[in-house]
This record gives sequence, structure tokens and C-alpha cells, in this order.
Amino acid sequence: MDMIYDRYSVRKYLKQDLNDKQKEYLDNITKYEQQGILGNKVNVKLIKPNTKHLKFSYGMIRGMAGYMYGYVDYSTNGYIDYGYIMEKNILGMTRMNIGTCWLGGTFNKKFFCGESKMGNKIVPAVIAYGAYESKRKDKARKRKGFEEIIFDKELGNSLSISRDDVLYDAYEAVRLAPSALNKQPWRLVKKDNIIRFYQNTKSVEMNLGNIDMGIGMAHFEYGLNINKINYSWIKEDIEEIKDYIYCMSIKI
Ligand SMILES: Cc1cc2nc3c(=O)[nH]c(=O)nc-3n(C[C@H](O)[C@H](O)[C@H](O)COP(=O)(O)O)c2cc1C
Repeated sequence: MDMIYDRYSVRKYLKQDLNDKQKEYLDNITKYEQQGILGNKVNVKLIKPNTKHLKFSYGMIRGMAGYMYGYVDYSTNGYIDYGYIMEKNILGMTRMNIGTCWLGGTFNKKFFCGESKMGNKIVPAVIAYGAYESKRKDKARKRKGFEEIIFDKELGNSLSISRDDVLYDAYEAVRLAPSALNKQPWRLVKKDNIIRFYQNTKSVEMNLGNIDMGIGMAHFEYGLNINKINYSWIKEDIEEIKDYIYCMSIKI
């Protein structure tokens, strides 16, 4: 679970370049097209770290930062897959000791997308990255408790989760995932060996909420993978629930 505990939004970067191993890692992720759960593909692009980042973001990022981004279909599924694909990259970057921060509202959209969308493609958000003085954040973060986000059979009915539950890491990985304005819109409902992912739509602007859902899915997978648990994503045909949007289910 190290990557999950180590990752946090880094807004202050060192005024130094990445080392050769880190650069090589980043070069590699731009070499192949990456695919999300819902079939959307992203070619990851990188702007190398520099100090002229004000052109891309509005002053929030300090020090020497680069930017990671890509174009994806302007659709709900496109946004979910973008969150999923980029968060997987972010967890890999965390392992390489590269700091990252999602920027959904505070980046210069015109710089990346031009005056309008590129056909039906868009850059939904960008990720600042760079060298940083890593401090492991063991202290409790501002996050909802399990009882607010993970449910048994139906929404609202909290699931009791113990430390030795095989899915504990997967639940914890979702709980600690980053989200726009820290709204944590994911709601998980466990029904036998299926976990349904819902988005609480009361949370945040829908588009960013969709990115958050993809991020939550990437974190859940991470928690399963480190425990060598097999899974498959499925789309179930189920009734909609007011104020919640059903996204996907994972079958264990
Ligand atoms: C889709 C998305 C958009 C975000 N946009 C911004 C942003 O514009 N500016 C910013 O400073 N942080 C942004 N964040 C970072 C969140 O504020 C941060 O993930 C959250 O507060 C949790 O903190 P942590 O990442 O340190 O665990 C964004 C996060 C996500 C997932």
C-alpha cells in the first residue's frame, strides 16, 4: 500500500530536474497508447519540468514543475477513463519518487485545447509533476470514514469492515484517493462478490466527478493487485438511484 500512503498533492516542487531513472520512466509512459476500463485510449504527453509554469496553471504550483496530459473523448466514459489511466501513471510516478498534483480547475485550458475542443477530444485536466522533498504522510488525512462511502447490499447501509478483510486494502486505497476539491464522490456497494461503483452527484461539477470515479477505480484495482486478487470489470443493467449515478461494477 506504499504508493497509496505516499501519494499526496504536491504543489511545491524543488528547483531541480528529475534524475535519469525518473526521466526514463516518464519517457516510457509516452511510448504506448494507454486504455481505460471503458475502452477509451489516451496518448500521454509531457511538458518537461521548467519554472515558467504560470503559462499553464494559475500560480498554485511553485518551483520547477512539468505537466502531464492527454486528449480523450468528451464524454462521461472518456472522463472516467482519463481519471483511471492518469491515476495509474500517478501511482507509478509516486513509486519513482516523482511528485504529482491533479489540476482540474486551475490550468490554462486554451493552452492545451486551443479556442475550442479538438474535434470531440478534450484535455479534461492536467497533472503537475516534478522533483520534491518527499514526506511520507502517515498522519490521518481529511477523508470520509468507511461508513460514509462503503455499503453492504444497498446505499446507506454501512458495511462493517475489519482489518483482515481480503478487500481491506482495496477499500482503503479508494478512501485515500485524490478527488477534485476533496469531495470523495465514490460510493461502493458490495453485493456478494460484486462491488458496484456509484458517483454521488451532489458532490462536485459532474465532469470532474467523473474523473474522480476513474481515479477511485484505479485505486481499488491497486488494492486488489497487491493482494493478488483476480477481478473483472462489468457493466450491470441496474436501476438508477436518485442523486447517484451507477458507473461500473467489479467482480471478485
Ligand atoms: C480531478 C481533480 C482535480 C483537481 N484540481 C485541483 C486544482 O485545480 N488545484 C489544486 O490545487 N488541486 C487540485 N486537485 C487536488 C485535490 O485538491 C486533492 O487531491 C485533494 O484535496 C486530496 O488531497 P491529497 O491529494 O493531498 O490527498 C484536484 C484533484 C482531482 C482528482
